[in-house]
Amino acid sequence: MSKAEATEKIDGLKSKINYYNRQYYQNDKSEISDFEFDQLLQSLIELETQFPDLKTDDSPSQRVGGTITKSFDTVVHQHAMLSLANTYSKEDLEDFDARIKKGLPEGEPFEYICEQKFDGVAISLTFEDGQLKIAATRGDGIQGDNITANARTIRSLPLQVAHLEKFEVRGEVYLPKNQFEKINAERIDIGEEPYANARNTASGSIKMQDSAEVSKRKLDCFLYSLIEENPTLNTHESALEQLQSLGFNVSPTYKKCQSIQEVIEYVQYWEDKRFELPVETDGIVIKINSMDQQKILGFTAKNPRWAISYKYKAENAQTKLKDITYQVGRTGAITPVAELEPVHLAGTTVKRASLHNANEIERLDIRIGDAVYVEKGGEIIPKITGVNFQERPAGIAATTYLTNCPECNTPLVRKEGEAVHYCPNHNHCPPQIMGKIEHFIQRKALNIDSLGEKTIQQLFENGFVTTPADLYTLTTDKILSLEGFKEVSASNILGGIEKSKTSSFEAVLFGIGIRFVGKTVAEKLAAHFKNIAALKQAKFDDLIEIPDIGDRIAESVTQYFSESENLTEIERLETAGLCFEVDESDNKQVSNLLDGKSFVVSGVFTTYSRDELKELIQSNGGKTLSSISSKLDFLLAGDKMGPAKKTKAEKLNINIIDEDDFKKMIES
Ligand code: IVH
Repeated sequence: MSKAEATEKIDGLKSKINYYNRQYYQNDKSEISDFEFDQLLQSLIELETQFPDLKTDDSPSQRVGGTITKSFDTVVHQHAMLSLANTYSKEDLEDFDARIKKGLPEGEPFEYICEQKFDGVAISLTFEDGQLKIAATRGDGIQGDNITANARTIRSLPLQVAHLEKFEVRGEVYLPKNQFEKINAERIDIGEEPYANARNTASGSIKMQDSAEVSKRKLDCFLYSLIEENPTLNTHESALEQLQSLGFNVSPTYKKCQSIQEVIEYVQYWEDKRFELPVETDGIVIKINSMDQQKILGFTAKNPRWAISYKYKAENAQTKLKDITYQVGRTGAITPVAELEPVHLAGTTVKRASLHNANEIERLDIRIGDAVYVEKGGEIIPKITGVNFQERPAGIAATTYLTNCPECNTPLVRKEGEAVHYCPNHNHCPPQIMGKIEHFIQRKALNIDSLGEKTIQQLFENGFVTTPADLYTLTTDKILSLEGFKEVSASNILGGIEKSKTSSFEAVLFGIGIRFVGKTVAEKLAAHFKNIAALKQAKFDDLIEIPDIGDRIAESVTQYFSESENLTEIERLETAGLCFEVDESDNKQVSNLLDGKSFVVSGVFTTYSRDELKELIQSNGGKTLSSISSKLDFLLAGDKMGPAKKTKAEKLNINIIDEDDFKKMIES
């Protein structure tokens, strides 16, 4: 394809993708399926890889990330990012109203705009010539970090707008509640500790070094302020409308109020309702609508005088702890659960709360029969904050933590340094068996959607399935012997199981459920080792050589392959016809410029991620190796490469090249 043809194709793809993106995020319409959308994006990425100088900063391919930032540059804010003074009561709000009245010319009417106080991370976005130029965190208010590449992955954020004059937009990056739950479910699924709350996860995510990882977090943002170079807008309301019409995500929950009474009503209305929003909030922000009046009121050293935040107090209730029960997760992790006398809290009835682990029980000194305080703050899940010791019934026993698994009676273990107890009977404990099979059939793994939780339970209880490999021994007769199954449903199930045999090696590797091996890690292991035989042989030291594979994962992988039961399971899955090697025909050959050349890629790069570089090497006919030997042709070195590698390469007289040299090699 000529460059001119590629330019035309790329432009066409970009405008199509931008159109569907706008329809989806602005107008709530999905006109094409996720699959079709991904295909368009994939075509764009492939063309941009082939013609790197046609890749622009506003390309929708930026949404999937791929830039590695070693350390974030500092950005000095054009206008300081101040914070808001907090208030906690109706009286505080009335005082604020009185101060406004005093600060404005006598008798001048004024209006308020009330907004949600989103509990995320403040962000500042600078646009020039209609393009997103800089995204920065708040930092200390005077200067923050340049996180532009990461911000570009936020899908609802337009990278290009129809407003050519320079302007700044501010808002809050957040992790939607459902996305937070999903990330935690995935973490629990692979045996990781769940994250504590959405706000911290959002703030950690926006500062990750690999923007491809940020992209996977699916952050979102609400914008709430527009700063023009040459102000034209008279009110905050018109600024919000302008933001909205430029394509920014503005929460529709804001309201114009004519009096502090109306503000108080808004505050009261959202006190319970806020739990239904997709984002965690911790209060309301009240702003003066008129820009002129904002100017008159001005700022104190730290806060604007024209705005204030009302913080909701976490709602409290007292109830009785009826019992402590224990749940066993797929990985054997034990979670203690507080069973409570039902109590009304912030619009819902609370009956249960997580007690996390033995340390938490000890810290609270919580005992069955205790009067306990339950609290619901910005977060959806209520927590137990303490015990009312004054009401402790005389003589109730201190809580002794469970010693044996509630499901299979195996003595529990707790590894040094870990807070959680585990049931070590991984291959025979019922919830662990069923959890393993549920993990195996999930969409990201073997994608057997003809099976569900209930069917798996029936199959297990009837003794047909105790490991994923047993699924491949199912027959129509076996399924028909279960209650409620007919020919059609049986053939559906078997069809789904049969289809799973076409799943990729990466999917199978994720599906077998090695602790700490999530989808991304499975992809990295598959790309590196290419087949199960090589992975089985891998030593701890081979594994930690792979970027992003740390000690914990390496240990877990070697442990997994040292257990004979696991090896038998893999053999059975192989015999059943599952794929245990990478399908090399998947790799699209772009050129043979690097034919017969071998590369080791090491360090951190600016234009491409390490994985992208490896793909480029392979798609141009080259080979990637994991360690330096005399057979190696090139060491492609980025920043922060270990000194030992460099010394070794120099000793062996190997060509050391940087990213620019490499780009020239594939461009020629
Ligand atoms: S306006 C002069 N509006 O709250 C400050 N801030 O304490 C103007 N926040 O750093 C900020 N929701 O991170 C504003 N609707 C909203 C907000 C909001 C959340 C955060 C923001 C800011 C902090 C101020």
